[in-house]
Amino acid sequence: MNESFTYLAEYLSALHTRELGRAPELFDTLDSTNAYLKREHTAGRAPAGAVAIALRQTAGRGRLGRTWESIPGAGLYFSLLAPRLPMERLSLVPVAVGVAAAAALQEIAEVTAGIKWPNDLIVSDRKLSGILCEGVLGRAVCGIGVNLLQDAAFFVRAELPHGTSLLLETGRVVSAPRLAAEIVNRLEPWLDELSAGKIDALIDRFRENCVSIGREVRAISPTGELAGIAVDVDAEGRLVIEHADGCTAVSAGEVQLRTVRGYL
Ligand code: BTN
Repeated sequence: MNESFTYLAEYLSALHTRELGRAPELFDTLDSTNAYLKREHTAGRAPAGAVAIALRQTAGRGRLGRTWESIPGAGLYFSLLAPRLPMERLSLVPVAVGVAAAAALQEIAEVTAGIKWPNDLIVSDRKLSGILCEGVLGRAVCGIGVNLLQDAAFFVRAELPHGTSLLLETGRVVSAPRLAAEIVNRLEPWLDELSAGKIDALIDRFRENCVSIGREVRAISPTGELAGIAVDVDAEGRLVIEHADGCTAVSAGEVQLRTVRGYL
């Protein structure tokens, strides 16, 4: 049987959503699944429930203009087009994706991943997964990358000293399409809540999963650096940092966590 057919069949048989993720496309190679869905949505071609999955990306994108190493078959690289939401709730979509991905990893890989604000998924202070949500024409394109099979040498070569994979953390090989489906399954109810204007339960769950709280952090912005202790996530999903001059709620940018191996 054709490999793509098997992959999509596995994805669709594990998918239990009403609409989200029900229109998948699988590519052997793409520049970036985020870039692809943004192009498709801009051209008016992306159907409701659009998902793009790539076995390899040649220009995988990370947050803050970084790249995302996307070697063939070693990771899960996919993006979805979130349904239309009121503008003021778009900023909570990455929060929902982080919470959904952490729950899916627990279910499929039995691994407890914490969320490093805003939405890196980390295990033992190493990065397992990254999330990039981008706004395009009033909708959010959400891209998720999960390291599945990379070995330690990969992270040395890629100069990612804080990186890890599910194989390294658990010794297990998990099915990429099943994991993708489970992330989407977990995400749809949170997006429904956001659509209905209910945000408290989402923020509570994010707070429970957020491993930045209680830790030494430093927020880096073009205007400087703010070091302190992260003490809370507020009702808008901002990270509250207590520092020498009081408390500051940070809504965007880079917030690094102090670890025994340096800042992550
Ligand atoms: C980050 O941690 O900086 C975010 C990384 C997001 C990577 C994923 S892989 C699938 C999707 N396509 C991309 O080009 N990026 C996201």
